[in-house]
Parts: sequence; structure tokens; C-alpha cells
Amino acid sequence: MALRITVIGTGYLGATHAAAMAELGFEVLGLDVVPEKIEKLERGEAPMYEPGLDELLRAHVVGIEGSSGRLRFTTDYAEAAAFGDIHFVCVNTPQRHGEYACDMSYVDSAIASLAPHLTEPALVVGKSTVPVGSADRLAAYLAEHAPVGVDAELAWNPEFLREGFAVQDTLRPDRIVVGVRSKRAEKLLREVYATPVSEGTPFVVTDFPTSELVKTSANSFLATKISFINAMAEMCEASGGDVAKLAEAIGYDDRIGKKFLRAGIGFGGGCLPKDIRAFMARAGELGADQALTFLREIDSINMRQRGQMVELARQALGGGPFLGKRVAVLGATFKPDSDDVRDSPALNVAGQIHLQGGQVTVYDPKGMDNARRIFPTLGYAGSAIEAVRGADVVLHLTEWREFRELDPAALGEVAATRLVLDGRNALDPELWRQAGWTYRAMGRPTA
Ligand code: UDX
Repeated sequence: MALRITVIGTGYLGATHAAAMAELGFEVLGLDVVPEKIEKLERGEAPMYEPGLDELLRAHVVGIEGSSGRLRFTTDYAEAAAFGDIHFVCVNTPQRHGEYACDMSYVDSAIASLAPHLTEPALVVGKSTVPVGSADRLAAYLAEHAPVGVDAELAWNPEFLREGFAVQDTLRPDRIVVGVRSKRAEKLLREVYATPVSEGTPFVVTDFPTSELVKTSANSFLATKISFINAMAEMCEASGGDVAKLAEAIGYDDRIGKKFLRAGIGFGGGCLPKDIRAFMARAGELGADQALTFLREIDSINMRQRGQMVELARQALGGGPFLGKRVAVLGATFKPDSDDVRDSPALNVAGQIHLQGGQVTVYDPKGMDNARRIFPTLGYAGSAIEAVRGADVVLHLTEWREFRELDPAALGEVAATRLVLDGRNALDPELWRQAGWTYRAMGRPTA
């Protein structure tokens, strides 16, 4: 009989994983403790904007016309325990309030809620991003709290999906990593991922700590590339060089690669910043001091970029206070093709300028509702051109395709001053300059 899979936690990771598992042909039960989330999912609606996810849900959620019916949802742990051969734990691990360490309470409570209901042998698979050492601890907990005679085993299987590409990253990942303690666990996970593996996805089998570290080190490496290029932008700024050309030129070396070398206001979102901080906290606990120092610099270069952007705007406007200046902000989300504004560098810059007296008007293709919720006092416009109307300066802070396709001549007609600052090094300087704009970007020459 085909494996039956439960997915605990139906947020970003869980909703995508549940739909992907149904797509791979498994019977899937998604569990969440928030009934409103379940109601939305039962209508085939994703909890956030993610290209292709609504369609994938509607193709499988039971009761939706034409669906496979392989995907259903519940809020009941007893039902989940009875249903699944494999239970994927996909709850989030946010940064603890006021601290760098991550908050494990959702993972802990998911496993604590599931364990006593297990009646059949089961594999519990953690997918959440956790500090190294967590799987060891959770395996001991599970062994102790599953009812006597029930063989409940833990495995770790980190997730590497990117927002905006979640569906494709889940169905066709670059690699699958599993931390296991038995051949049985490995065999079950090979069965789950048989389709992507048959299509060529590498399947890496390792121990618990390595599997946990693969995730945090992959994210830290990406963060390192971004902070590295931002440090090079500072060098270019100081010497008159052009960081975009520099990135292109070093990127031709495939040991370095072209990706993740776009200088600008740095990384944000729900993963990279909090993961690097949790990694720092864990390095500190384990006494890995040099690793801690290294990671701290990456975080601090990243955070500095936001302030640099504010300074660039101030200097471009003549160096005085922002009071009375009209600032158009293009972009609110932490990256394009997402409605996520968590730890968004764009909103952080907009917020700083607003707090310093600037009259800020924000436009974003998908992030307006979320931005309004956390920054209700900023001004908002319904389109890029409306945001730019009457502006003394335009800040390009999230690299949506819509912004690259704007007509600088048309914007120039409505702006008070043709001054654009590209915080993402993503606009075409020549195009804007030809339309009469002064174009400035971090780490690039002024003309
Ligand atoms: C990231 C990892 O890429 C993914 O593998 C992991 O599973 C979760 O965290 P995501 O949060 O979706 O995914 O964002 P990502 O695409 O990595 O971008 C992170 C941030 O870095 C964005 O704010 C982006 O604008 C910024 N970035 C990216 C740069 O500043 N420069 C670049 O060259 C690339």
C-alpha cells in the first residue's frame, strides 16, 4: 500500500510540502492548530502569495471539482497520528523575542502533541530549520513519550525552498538531504522521494548534526556571498570602481559563480537573517568562537547596508534633514515575486526615512496589505507612477520585473526631480540617464 503522509504545520513550508507530496501521488493529511488556515486551504487557497501554489492545492484538495482528492486537512493530532506512516514536521522556528537564538517551542509542541497518539510504527521527520543538536534531543523525547511498544523513530530532512520558487524547489529540489539513524528510515525516505531522485536529484544520507548543519550553513553561505559583494561595493564606492562590473567579472569563474552577487540594501526575509543569528547563538553555546565572529560580520555588513541607503538618499537630496522631502519607494517586500515583508530591507529603509521626517510613499505589486499592517503610518500609492508623482527622489528597493519595465520618460513627467537611487542594482542606468534622470547606486560610479 502507498505510504500515507501527514504534514504538521501548514504555513509556507508545510502547505507547499503537503501539496507537493499529493502531487507525487501520496495520500496526504495536513495539520494545523489554526482553524482559519485550514479553512482557507480546504478552499484551495495558499496561506501566502506563491506562484503556482493555489493551482497545485486545487489540483489535489479533496472536495474541489476535478481534484485528485489526495490532500485533506485537520486540526486533530489523534487523527494525524492514526493516518500517517510518515509525519513531516514543518512548523516555523522564528527568532526568539529580543534574542538571537531561535524559538523551538512550535517544533517541541508539535512533537509533544503527536507522540502520545501514535499507535503504529511511525517515522517522524523534521523539516524545520533548527539549531544543531535539536534532532538528538527530539529523538530522545520521542522514544520516551511514544506509547510503550510503538516504534516511533525520528529523521531530519531539511528544506531549501526559496520564496517565489517554492513549488518548483519542492518538486525538483537541487538535492535531498536526510539525517537518519537506521536503514529503515533511509528506505522510507527514499520511497517518499523516489520521483525526484529518479529524475536525477542527488540524495545525501548523513547523520543528525550534519543534516541540521547543511541547512544553516547553506543559508549562511548565501548570506556570505551577499555581504561579501556589499563589502566590495564599499571598496568600489571608496575607489571609484563599479561593483556591478566587478561581480560580473568575478562571476565568470565558476568556482565563484554569478548568483547571489548583487550588491545593494542586502538580504532580508523570514529565513536568511534569523537563521544566521540562530547559527551565531548556537556557535556561541558550543564555544565555536571563530565561527561566531565570522557570522557576526556577515550580519553586521548586511544591517549596515540599510543605513547606507538612507545616507545615500540624504546626500542625494543635499545632505540636510528629510523634513519636507517627498520620497517615492518602489518595493516593500523583501524580494520580488512574494508578498512577504518580514525583515524587509525596503520597508526598513522607508521606515527610517519616515521617522526622520521624510514624506514617504510606497508602492509594491504584491506586498501592500502586509506593508500597511506593519507600517500603517507610511504613505501608500496604487501604482508606481502614483508613488513617483511629485517625488524629490525615487528609491528602487525591491527588484520586481514591473519596476525594470517602467518607462523612465513617463515617470520623469510626473516626478518633481529626476533623481533615482537603485538600492538593488537592478535598473538599467543608461535607460534612466537617457531619460534625463540622475541615477545612483551603491558601489557604482555617479555617471
Ligand atoms: C532563502 C534561501 O535562498 C533558501 O534556500 C532557504 O530555504 C530559505 O532562505 P528566501 O528567503 O526565499 O530563501 O530568499 P533568497 O532568494 O535567498 O533571498 C534572500 C534575500 O537576499 C532577499 O532579500 C534578496 O533580495 C537578497 N539578495 C539576494 C541580495 O541582496 N543579493 C543577491 O545577490 C541575492
